[in-house]
Amino acid sequence: MDIIINEVGLRDGLQNQPKLVSTADKLSLLTLLEKAGLKHIEVASFVHPKAVPQMADAEAVVADLNFSNGQVYSGLVPNLRGYDRGAATGLNEFGLIMSASSTFSERNVRMSLEQSYQACLDVIKACLRDGNRSRVYISCSCACPYEGRIQEAVVLDLAKRLLDEGADEVSISDTIGAGTPSQIFDLTSPLISEYGASRVNLHVHDTRGAALAMVWSGYLAGVRMFDASIGGLGGCPFAPGATGNVATEDLVYMFNQSGIHTNIDFEALEPAVAFAEKVTTSSLGGKSMQWLRSKC
Ligand code: COA
Ligand code: ZN
Repeated sequence: MDIIINEVGLRDGLQNQPKLVSTADKLSLLTLLEKAGLKHIEVASFVHPKAVPQMADAEAVVADLNFSNGQVYSGLVPNLRGYDRGAATGLNEFGLIMSASSTFSERNVRMSLEQSYQACLDVIKACLRDGNRSRVYISCSCACPYEGRIQEAVVLDLAKRLLDEGADEVSISDTIGAGTPSQIFDLTSPLISEYGASRVNLHVHDTRGAALAMVWSGYLAGVRMFDASIGGLGGCPFAPGATGNVATEDLVYMFNQSGIHTNIDFEALEPAVAFAEKVTTSSLGGKSMQWLRSKC
């Protein structure tokens, strides 16, 4: 199976940015990402606009997408109401929100773990009914900002139940970037052995500098689908202290240089990073981008 890099900058990347980015600027960033070769893109989340104001224009973003260009667009949904909103736009791939930690679930989606699990099952069933794809993000798979380290057995049990219920994929998500490469190996390897690489995604943040090492460890365990965010944008409004996702350019550089083809042009990501910096008025760019810029 080829490597799939799912760009989440427009959603995970922007959701925590204090400066509101206009719909037109989001679409311009999307165009730059696509020019560099990114094919899988999470474009928005259908959450409550008061909870995450940056995502209030989710419908408007999707309304401008060209669905006939072979791209794979997805949207994040916390409940059936969000799924109905997303499905009405014509999207057919959805990220669902689940957590391995009860405190984070309460803070993030205002649901207990049982309620959130039920909400996920409702959306999984709706996806199966409508012929849409579901990927359940298991937030705090490594650690929770409120409860500390999460046991692997808890995450594995949850992931297996969701896959058995008909989720197309689960995403092992280190929401706060507190995981280790060995933890990622222990979390992904058993799932891949049992369900195959086409059902396991890896989503890591780089808060403590371990993101690329975690991605590589996931790759060695058999993971072939990775989330990443342009320029390393990202963070979660409900996870204090968490910084951005692994930078798309770092991941692309690492894989391309290792002879593992991503079909993404590393240097063509620079204009996307520059544009993301302009619209968020923040300084971005993974280490590889800083290196690229220093040699120009
Ligand atoms: N989109 C828009 N509105 C929604 C909604 C959604 N997905 N889900 C619920 N609502 C509306 C309801 O219709 C209801 O509206 P009303 O008062 O006009 O009847 C209102 O919100 C309250 O509904 P309730 O089910 O009680 O929701 P809540 O207030 O407990 O909020 C979430 C639950 C999940 C919608 C909210 O916490 C949320 O959007 N969180 C964002 C999580 C997130 O994006 N985290 C970062 C990514 S992991
Ligand atoms: Zn994230």
